[in-house]
Amino acid sequence: MIFDFEALSKKDRYKLVVSTVVPRPIAWMVTQDAEGRINAAPFSFFNVFSNDPVVVGIGVGARGMGGEEEDDFKDTLANIKATGEFTLCLVSEETAQAMNVTAADYPPGVNELEKAGLTTAPSAKVKVPRIAESPVALECRLWQMIPIGGHNLVLGEVQAVHVRDDCMLDPARLYVDTPKLGLVGRMHGAGWYARTTDRFEMPRVTAEQVEARRKG
Ligand SMILES: Cc1cc2nc3c(=O)[nH]c(=O)nc-3n(C[C@H](O)[C@H](O)[C@H](O)COP(=O)(O)O)c2cc1C
Repeated sequence: MIFDFEALSKKDRYKLVVSTVVPRPIAWMVTQDAEGRINAAPFSFFNVFSNDPVVVGIGVGARGMGGEEEDDFKDTLANIKATGEFTLCLVSEETAQAMNVTAADYPPGVNELEKAGLTTAPSAKVKVPRIAESPVALECRLWQMIPIGGHNLVLGEVQAVHVRDDCMLDPARLYVDTPKLGLVGRMHGAGWYARTTDRFEMPRVTAEQVEARRKG
């Protein structure tokens, strides 16, 4: 079945894309306004796009994303425009409920982390704090902002990463106990998520190995 995006409404295109491009990691963004008031919200239009420099990208919609209205900026975007900084925390199953609370549409200046019963820890390279309960936090400076229709693609350069101590297998060799992070991803519909516990291993293969297998 093919769905022609030219013939679909914005809402229907959104529905199809978020139901198929899964699972998506969740960027739990902490920002501050010009007065230093803290804001937090999750964004699943997110990934890492480069490793030298390390640049992450987050698609921030207008208020009412998924619907038809495109009126104003979300607080996260307004704050990044004002300060050029953010921290990006990753969401574990333990913090998933709290993450969901921070997605509620509070007015500017309201600290969603307090509403969710979360605390902050200081960052080293940026002024914006990170979510203390999150097992991983990336400290980021704005690299570039690219308008895409009603969205803005925020590209941030990672300055430092915090990993919870007990999730490091060997700090000297930078071995992370990734399964222990217990991270979750966003799935389809309004409220489906996936755990990262159901894994399988598949080492990379060389062209020679593939050819040898094909020849039997
Ligand atoms: C799991 C999850 C993922 C989300 N992903 C996005 C996203 O990628 N882009 C977006 O604009 N909004 C996304 N939202 C909605 C925002 O979190 C929501 O609009 C929030 O109120 C924005 O907060 P702010 O105005 O404080 O920035 C997501 C919500 C949830 C629960």
